[in-house]
Amino acid sequence: MSHLKGKKIQLIKFNDRFITADYVGWLNNFDVNKYLCTGRILVDKKDIYAPSDDKNLMFAMMSNVGIDDEGLPWEDKDYVHYIGTISLHDISWIDRKGEIGYMIGSKDHWGMGIATEAIGLVSNYALSRLNLNKVTAGVVDGNIGSLKALEKNGFKRYGVKPQDYYLGGKFLDTILFYKLQEK
Ligand SMILES: CC(C)(COP(=O)(O)OP(=O)(O)OC[C@H]1O[C@@H](n2cnc3c(N)ncnc32)[C@H](O)[C@@H]1OP(=O)(O)O)[C@@H](O)C(=O)NCCC(=O)NCCS
Repeated sequence: MSHLKGKKIQLIKFNDRFITADYVGWLNNFDVNKYLCTGRILVDKKDIYAPSDDKNLMFAMMSNVGIDDEGLPWEDKDYVHYIGTISLHDISWIDRKGEIGYMIGSKDHWGMGIATEAIGLVSNYALSRLNLNKVTAGVVDGNIGSLKALEKNGFKRYGVKPQDYYLGGKFLDTILFYKLQEK
């Protein structure tokens, strides 16, 4: 598989050509990384590589929607642009499980339903095509958009890692989610 297609986005297998100046900029942007483990140290293009094993799949998120200068939404099926990444990582083929993580680096594309669609595409792919039994995710408390996007895709909360993430002078919990394959 190298391509998953949705309505607003397409997901393409990540490779070195997606390690662009935009991508490096997203990884170094505080707003984008506020709730991510990435972004705590500045990274350079040479520090980044595309995963190349069967336990870690990563996709570039390509969008054909956007917002124009007047704040109006547009859609153009013939125009796709790179806006972020989503991964299915730490896959165990024995326990048939994997964890998802996502970053919409282009802030212009936040709040357009893109994370919701991307999580749906990757979790369906994992649970149906890859035949995994479980997909998990962890979200820092306060990252409302991420919590909602998981819940809209049928992910359930199963626990909390207390005081797990240090941000703004406070230790925040990580909220743990899972979704199982439908039998
Ligand atoms: C968090 C993030 C993934 C959300 O992506 P998104 O595409 O904006 O999310 P969606 O548009 O699918 O929104 C899902 C829901 O959350 C809401 N939402 C999105 N961002 C929000 C925010 N900052 N505050 C409150 N609600 C928010 C949306 O309105 C939508 O709710 P609705 O369906 O009731 O209208 C995106 O902002 C991002 O990539 N941030 C940086 C990296 C990151 O935090 N990744 C996740 C780590 S777990």
